Amino acid sequence: GKSGYDHFMLKEIHEQPRALRQCFRGRVDELSGTVDLADLGDLSPRGVQLVACGTSYHAAVYAAQLFQQAGIPAQAFLASEYATSPPPIGDALVIGVTQSGETADTLSALREARKRGARTLAVTNTVGSTVARECDHAMYIRAGPEIGVAATKTFSSQIAALNLLALAITSVGDAREVISGLRDLPGAVQEILDTSTAQEIAETYRDAESYFFIGRGLHYPVALEGALKMKEITYKHAEGFAAGELKHGPLALVTSDTPVFAVVTGDDEMATKTVGNVKEVEARDAPVVAVTDGASDVERYADHVLEVPDTHRRVAAVVANVQLQLVAYHTADMLGRSIDKPRNLAKSVTVE
Ligand code: F6R
Repeated sequence: GKSGYDHFMLKEIHEQPRALRQCFRGRVDELSGTVDLADLGDLSPRGVQLVACGTSYHAAVYAAQLFQQAGIPAQAFLASEYATSPPPIGDALVIGVTQSGETADTLSALREARKRGARTLAVTNTVGSTVARECDHAMYIRAGPEIGVAATKTFSSQIAALNLLALAITSVGDAREVISGLRDLPGAVQEILDTSTAQEIAETYRDAESYFFIGRGLHYPVALEGALKMKEITYKHAEGFAAGELKHGPLALVTSDTPVFAVVTGDDEMATKTVGNVKEVEARDAPVVAVTDGASDVERYADHVLEVPDTHRRVAAVVANVQLQLVAYHTADMLGRSIDKPRNLAKSVTVE
C-alpha cells in the first residue's frame, strides 16, 4: 500500500534515503576509500557506451561525465537511436541502464551491441529481468519496487550505483572524497524531505503554461529530468536545457510567464557561467527559482530559492533533483492530475 501517502510517487520520493543506503550497503569501504563490486569481475574497459531511455537516459548522461572525468571515453545514447548509426565499439563496455529491465528500446540497443562483439552490463532494479539475463554482467540498484509510473527513487539509485561503478572501474585521486560525499547523500536527501518549500513554489507557479529548467555539467541531466517529471505528471510544457544553450534559441521563448528553475551549486567557474545565464533570463523578467546551496550569488537574481545542503557536486545533483521531483509532484497534485498513472504512459515500455 501507500503507507499513508496520497500517492505511490510521494511514498517513493520519501523512500529515497533508505533506497540509497541499500544501494551502498556492503559495496563501499570508507576506510580504504574503495568500492567493492567483486561480483562483476574485472571489467577494466577502455571506453564506455551507455544506452537508456527517458529518466534512465538522464542517469546515463550523468554517468558518462563521471567516466569522462576519470579519463575513460564515455558517451550516453538514447537507446532508440543507438542502432541508427552504431558507434564503433572497440573495447568499450556497453552499459544498459534500465529500471524495469524490460524496456524494448534498451534491450534492442544492447542486442545490437552484443552482435557487434561488445561486452554488456545491465544496471537495473529488477532481478531476473530480461536485461539481467541477456547481459554479460548485472549490477542491481536495489531501490525496491517502484509503483508510480514516474521514476523517482530509481533515478537516484541509478545515479548512486553508477557512481559506485565509476569508482570501481576507474582509478581517480579523489575517490575518498567522492565516497565520503556519497555517504552524506541519504542524509542530504532526508534533509530536503524534511525542509523543502517545493509546495509553495508549486502553488506560486501552478498556472504557468511552460516551465524551463537549466543546469551545466552534472546539473544538465538534472535539468532534463526536472522537465521530464514536470511534463509527465502535470501535462504541461516543460523543457530542460544545458544552461549555455539558452541563448542559442530557447531564450526567444522566455517571458515573464516562464518560470525558470536554475540548478547552481558551488562557486566554481561552471557556477559563475550558469549565474550569467540566470541573469539573461532575469533580464527578460522571467521568474527564477534557484536550486542552490547558496555558494554563488545566484540568489541575487532569483525570485525564490530551493535550498540544497552544501555537499559534493555529485551528491548536490541528486539532492537538487529531489527538490524538482517535489515541485512536479505538488504542481500535479494541485492540478488534480492522475499522478501515479499519467495518461498515455506505461511503467514499462515493451514495444519499440
Ligand atoms: C520517466 C519514466 C520513463 C522511463 C523509461 C525507461 O519517469 O518512467 O521515462 O524512465 O521508460 O524505463 P526503464 O528504466 O524501465 O528502462
